[in-house]
Amino acid sequence: MPSISEVRARNAAMLSTTSYLPVAIFVGGTSGIGEGMAEAFSKHTQGNAHIIIVGRNRAAAENIIARFPKPTSPEAKHEFIQCDVSLMRNIRSVSEEIRSKVTKINLLAMSPGFMTTSGRNETEEGIDRKLAVHYYSRWMFTKELMNLLENAEEQGEDAKVLSVFSAGKGGAIDVNDLGLKKTFSLKNAAMQVPTYNDLMVEEFASRHPRITLAHAYPGGVNTNILTSAEASTLTKMAIDLLTPLGFLLTSRQDCGEYMLNGILNVAKTPGAWRLGSRGEDLAKKRYYGSEEERKKLWEHTVEATNGKA
Ligand SMILES: *[C@@H]1O[C@H](CO)[C@@H](O)[C@H](O)[C@H]1NC(C)=O
Repeated sequence: MPSISEVRARNAAMLSTTSYLPVAIFVGGTSGIGEGMAEAFSKHTQGNAHIIIVGRNRAAAENIIARFPKPTSPEAKHEFIQCDVSLMRNIRSVSEEIRSKVTKINLLAMSPGFMTTSGRNETEEGIDRKLAVHYYSRWMFTKELMNLLENAEEQGEDAKVLSVFSAGKGGAIDVNDLGLKKTFSLKNAAMQVPTYNDLMVEEFASRHPRITLAHAYPGGVNTNILTSAEASTLTKMAIDLLTPLGFLLTSRQDCGEYMLNGILNVAKTPGAWRLGSRGEDLAKKRYYGSEEERKKLWEHTVEATNGKA
């Protein structure tokens, strides 16, 4: 496994030598891993990129963008689009906004988080909030922005999608209860949603064979997800107790570098990839899923996200 300094050097080599101004979208880029990836991307491009951070917290995004290196290219732009990604209709309208701003996307990186210790909690669109953030939102962004990825690919440029969630940590899925309407539990969500993400990147890859898609596991990262408003007091107390152990966790900066390494340097050819916490190829390690499940999940997702505008 390469060291963090090797990874940084590889990412820098990759991103400082592109012959074009890259366009990168970081969904969930206002904190944690998404922030780490956006920071690393801005650093290695010396700010010469069109970077769009999508998230809920404008103040956090403005802070992050203010720290990006100042670009020298007049085409470079760093901006924020506000979006609560638990609602599919928000993703539709934000995607439309993105399509009005850029004509191609080279990297769509998604890492929005949702921590809860309670049970199923549906949005007005009938989707559980946790599943919406960890799965349906990522499917929806990928679907809505696929044309822009294909535009990049047609110009001979990188066209890559990364869903940072939990590759290699899932289990079998229940095709009789996709979306966990009947059998929601935190354990079922934790076991099945990783496999949803695997099947999602596979199905998109089979439909769009020239695009590179990956599902990654970020490892233990020092993020503020657990201190968000969604966490219960008890969870917050547990986190406060654990915080002195924070040195055991990977910093968001290093995790951002590892995740970029995975999608930029390891996932070198089009298709579906599974990546570990150092960006390494997991291949089919602890893989659950079948072609039939992949198709059923796709059909379910089209139905669950449709007509909710
Ligand atoms: C469901 O989620 C909403 C929005 O996050 C929150 O306001 C509400 O308290 C939650 N309900 C339950 C029962 O947890």
